[in-house]
Amino acid sequence: MADESHEGKPSRAELLRDVQEKTREIERLQMQNLFLKTVFDGISEEIMIVDRDFNVLDANRVLLERHRLDRDTVTGRKCHEIKRETGAPCHIIENGCPLHRARDTGKMVEINYQHQDSGGENRSLSLIMYPIKLPGEGDIRYFMEIARDETRYRKLIGQIKASQKRFRSILDTATNAILSIDEDHRITLFNNAAERIFGYSREEVMGRDLGCLIPESYGDHKKYVKRFLEYRKPSVIGRTIRLTAQRKNGEEFPIELSLSFLELESDITITAIIRDITEHRRMEKMLLQNERLAAVGEAVAHVAHELKNPLMIIGGFTSQIRNAVRDKKILTKLDMILDEVARLERLVLELGDFTKEYRLLYRPADINSVLRDVVKVMGAAHPAGKYTIIANLDPALEEISCDPDKLKQVFLNIFSNGMEAMADGGVITVNSEGRPDGVEVRISDQGPGIPEKELQHIFEPFYTTRERGSGLGLAISYKIVRAHGGELTAARRPGGGAMFTVQLPLSLKFAASKEYQK
Ligand SMILES: Nc1ncnc2c1ncn2[C@@H]1O[C@H](COP(=O)(O)OP(=O)(O)O)[C@@H](O)[C@H]1O
Ligand SMILES: [Mg+2]
Repeated sequence: MADESHEGKPSRAELLRDVQEKTREIERLQMQNLFLKTVFDGISEEIMIVDRDFNVLDANRVLLERHRLDRDTVTGRKCHEIKRETGAPCHIIENGCPLHRARDTGKMVEINYQHQDSGGENRSLSLIMYPIKLPGEGDIRYFMEIARDETRYRKLIGQIKASQKRFRSILDTATNAILSIDEDHRITLFNNAAERIFGYSREEVMGRDLGCLIPESYGDHKKYVKRFLEYRKPSVIGRTIRLTAQRKNGEEFPIELSLSFLELESDITITAIIRDITEHRRMEKMLLQNERLAAVGEAVAHVAHELKNPLMIIGGFTSQIRNAVRDKKILTKLDMILDEVARLERLVLELGDFTKEYRLLYRPADINSVLRDVVKVMGAAHPAGKYTIIANLDPALEEISCDPDKLKQVFLNIFSNGMEAMADGGVITVNSEGRPDGVEVRISDQGPGIPEKELQHIFEPFYTTRERGSGLGLAISYKIVRAHGGELTAARRPGGGAMFTVQLPLSLKFAASKEYQK
């Protein structure tokens, strides 16, 4: 059969094409419908379609299942009735009804509710009312209400906030400095202790390079970070390293640092816990000093003991020979021998003092009167007018329990050193002062002072720069002061000269007085 075409009438082929097109259109719509239906029922939010008069036209599977309803009993009823039955919040009476508002404004309305469900549990609900505008229609006839239960999500946010708060309070009460840097060494976290230790405020350092706190000249922290990023092998992570850091005022100080590393998505954070070990270092040094003193002490005690008898013999026989000799030249030589023997005997005596385990004889004493004695002795031992001694003694000084004879020896040593340092005479000033934690005595002179690099050695036994010095005076003094639980330090006086400070603790008063009673 031939395909005929008549004027004005569509041919069969055209009709067929038309039908095929319509079928395809219907299929497309069915597909779309199915797709929407799947979304409508598959989504985890509760959805309700209502009209302007609160009539429910449809509800999705989640809503129906959650409230044990079925579609037929829901459709056609009022939305507020269903809400009341299911215990969902509804504000139809007040003007908070989202449908009211969406109807009035023609715009989407979003509301968050806090309410108690039928089980008495507090729930957070987020509700969105969408006006649905059909194409070609002026009025909005339908609305889609999407309700999402955000209880879990809100709870999680609450938990995160609480843990953040906890974290912040740990950070801010920690005594160690805690700071974080990003991959580019920029500071991203800086706690209170860090502010205190480094002297910078948080605002001042945020975003700045770590180099402002740990100068690269001392330890290339960049190197560690780079190596870590390259190999992902924590060469320093988890270990403690010692570095030098710098405070805002430029002061450098030793730190101990441990690192931890966190990679979140592509963000890298390196957190450092930093301990200021200035005080720790000082204690270490003191301990070392004590150890050294103890070790040297043993050897020296032995030598001193061995020297005592031969010296006595040499001295004794030399005196006897001196009595029998008339030759002037020989007499001068014998006098020289006796002089040297006397010096050595003094040294042996000092050595004995130095190596002795000090058993202090405590009694209540006034440090001022100890100092007055010392001033008297020192004044008498030197030609009048050569040295001037100025004493500023705190009249309110309390008596402390100590061994005044041993302390006298300390002050005598320091005074002698000061006078020896001023061969042509000068002024020695002594101050005593009551402190809340004890008594402080400062003795200063106008000599050349002690060079910085010698300062760290002068308390070592046998360290001397004097031709006939023993190098034991300060070592003995140090030992006596330490035995009292106090501290002996030396410094360069700003105006030239040396200044020695003796600090005796007040707590000693109690600790020691007990021993005294024994
Ligand atoms: N007042 C002072 N001024 C300058 N240097 C000092 C002073 N006191 C101590 N010193 C230095 O400390 C060193 C050690 O002192 P010390 O232990 O008393 O031994 P000695 O007096 O036998 O040398 C001295 O040799 C000197 O270099
Ligand atoms: Mg001396």
